[in-house]
Amino acid sequence: MPLHPTNLKTRFLALDAFLLAHQHLWRPKPFTHRQLPWEAQHPELSTWLRQRSLEDAEAAHNRPEHLDAPEPFAQLARQSTALSEIDALPTHTLNAIPSRMSVDVPGRKWQQIEAFASSLSFRQTPTHWLDWCSGKGHLGRRLAHDGQALTCLEYDPALVESGRQLSDKLGMHATHLHQDVMAKTAADRVDAHHTPVALHACGDLHVRLMQLASDAHCQQLAIAPCCYNRIASDHYQALSNEGRASSLKLSLDDLGLPLSETVTAGARVRRQRDTSMARRLAFDVLQRQLRGIDDYLPTPSLPSAWLDKPFADYCRDLAELKQLPAPGPQNWPALEATGWQRLAHVRNLELLRNLFRRPLELWLILDRALYLQQRDYEVRIGTFCASHVTPRNLLILAERK
Ligand SMILES: C[S@@+](CC[C@H](N)C(=O)[O-])C[C@H]1O[C@@H](n2cnc3c(N)ncnc32)[C@H](O)[C@@H]1O
Repeated sequence: MPLHPTNLKTRFLALDAFLLAHQHLWRPKPFTHRQLPWEAQHPELSTWLRQRSLEDAEAAHNRPEHLDAPEPFAQLARQSTALSEIDALPTHTLNAIPSRMSVDVPGRKWQQIEAFASSLSFRQTPTHWLDWCSGKGHLGRRLAHDGQALTCLEYDPALVESGRQLSDKLGMHATHLHQDVMAKTAADRVDAHHTPVALHACGDLHVRLMQLASDAHCQQLAIAPCCYNRIASDHYQALSNEGRASSLKLSLDDLGLPLSETVTAGARVRRQRDTSMARRLAFDVLQRQLRGIDDYLPTPSLPSAWLDKPFADYCRDLAELKQLPAPGPQNWPALEATGWQRLAHVRNLELLRNLFRRPLELWLILDRALYLQQRDYEVRIGTFCASHVTPRNLLILAERK
């Protein structure tokens, strides 16, 4: 089912019903529960997932819908796939640019920029690009190199300055402004003749753009959202009429679910990430004993040097940091092994939750798309690149009716 403007609402309502009906499966996080509430309901699936290895989980992480697991897994996987289906946006060939333009841009970022730029198509040719949360302004420069005007808004002064220097070096007339886009003054930066673009502006930042650009009656805009959980409020504030009418209430934790897909990391990084999580899970067993409370206790993120400490010291130091009683004598090798075993369980149990990752992301994207429709825009959505280039690969294109 391709996502045409007329069926954005139908798809949103179908996703809404799917997510609401199965909240008990995707809300609880395996990392914080020793036993998930749904496991008693689906014992066969639970046992099947729990006997698998960490490597098995890793292999299925990015494609959980292909896993041949007991019901209700397969049925949910089919629904998830159908509801998440979305076409790639049509692309056009970009004009060649001097290679020095991409020299300072990391490889994957440049691929994202090229893909984003080649997916833009508007009835009216843009005359003035507004790169929203631009970083150094690489995207804006790629778009404006044909001679259109370019304004870049960014609040990190070092990035503003680097962006300015890069534009000067390339002989481009770009304006790099130091601007907090959440400040009141940001409204003065958005003008009807601008074509705003935002590549991976986090949560509130791209929502702010949709509000200001529609208030300013910008003719067109393009947004590839990310970090849905970077918002000032503690719950998601739905934007569209349908979103506001929904009884789906999303916490910051829930909003992190779409972001949990990882781009394949190198073996060293993976090992470090796994060790850190296995240690945390082992410490979780210990802290439940020390406190005499069978509940998860959040721990702060720790410098990577903590992973070089012997495991027993790691636990003692973390207990002290959390002001818990000293652990006393323990069977440390057994506790450490328990952490690794729990990690395998967590990663495999997460595969069920991961079936809801893309449906939830699409729900959030459609809430934005419907909001723009309700503010008089024609909206198209689709992917602008493959997920290995970036898992945040959905693009919203909006043109004023
Ligand atoms: C994920 S980066 C994306 C940068 C760029 N669009 C890209 O794709 O490379 C988000 C950018 O938003 C900037 N940013 C964060 N909060 C901001 C704010 N309140 N106002 C303006 N820029 C902000 C950050 O400094 C960062 O450069």
